[in-house]
Amino acid sequence: MSDICKNWSTWLKKTRFSYMSDVQVQQTLNWLMNIKNIVLDMAELKENQKIADFGCGSGLLAFGVLERFQDRVELIFSDKFQDCLDECQNILKNSEIKSNVKFLKSDICDIKLEDNYLDRALTRSVLVHVLDKQSAFCELYRVLKPEGLYCSFEPIISQNTRYYELLIPDEASDYFDFKKAEMEFMSDPNDPLVNFSAESLDLNMQAAGFSDVKVNVQAVVSKYSPTVETIENWFITPPAPNQKTMKERFMEYFDEKKVNNYIEEVKLTLSKREIRVSSDTALIKARK
Ligand SMILES: C[S@@+](CC[C@H](N)C(=O)[O-])C[C@H]1O[C@@H](n2cnc3c(N)ncnc32)[C@H](O)[C@@H]1O
Repeated sequence: MSDICKNWSTWLKKTRFSYMSDVQVQQTLNWLMNIKNIVLDMAELKENQKIADFGCGSGLLAFGVLERFQDRVELIFSDKFQDCLDECQNILKNSEIKSNVKFLKSDICDIKLEDNYLDRALTRSVLVHVLDKQSAFCELYRVLKPEGLYCSFEPIISQNTRYYELLIPDEASDYFDFKKAEMEFMSDPNDPLVNFSAESLDLNMQAAGFSDVKVNVQAVVSKYSPTVETIENWFITPPAPNQKTMKERFMEYFDEKKVNNYIEEVKLTLSKREIRVSSDTALIKARK
């Protein structure tokens, strides 16, 4: 297991940006601000509502709510991990807001709130890290008041362009072995990152009791010329704390020598051309 990152606050602050140039970091931050605003606009927020950001991390959505409403809403920063809540608490110390904010350490599958408490439940890129998405939706439904809204943004990683799709068979010595392995681990039902689709999220929410369920999928396509360093980092950067890197995933099938050889071949091939990668994201809105 990679030891690059063991906790979420470090992953959010450093690891996720580790392979990016300054320009890419800025583009990603701009993209995050845009997503934040889209989710908050979708949520039809109003003064005096009780709002929670579940899996708040470093507080992207929650601080967005505070920017818009200061202490005129009751806001809950909630996360399964204390380091994220500490991070948000530290940021909040330097702000003017001293009331109407709570911190709740809670697994989204077992939320420490009473039934029918919230007007709005928000998440961004959280369900993608939760193995049992149905339990999470049942809990979100339980803690919302009737007519309460759940709004979210999630990447649908199972739909991402795969490495083998960027190559032709002649470009890697063990192309078909690696294709088979990647197809298998990218559809592993026990891996929270890939065990879902837009359709399964929709069905999970309906099964939890939500109505007016909307899962709007957008394919994000980018074209660029990756460098050797960028490609190396695709393989060695963990997608979440304590999660296996792509290299480690391939090493569950092949020895390190064979995996290193594949990585070198991918680097050699793709660093010479422009690639086109696609990833799906979903904007989610549902009513209790
Ligand atoms: C990719 S980060 C997103 C953080 C934040 N929502 C944002 O938009 O930047 C995923 C967050 O989900 C939290 N998380 C992971 N599993 C969780 C669970 N089972 N229950 C609650 N939070 C969880 C992590 O601690 C982390 O803060």
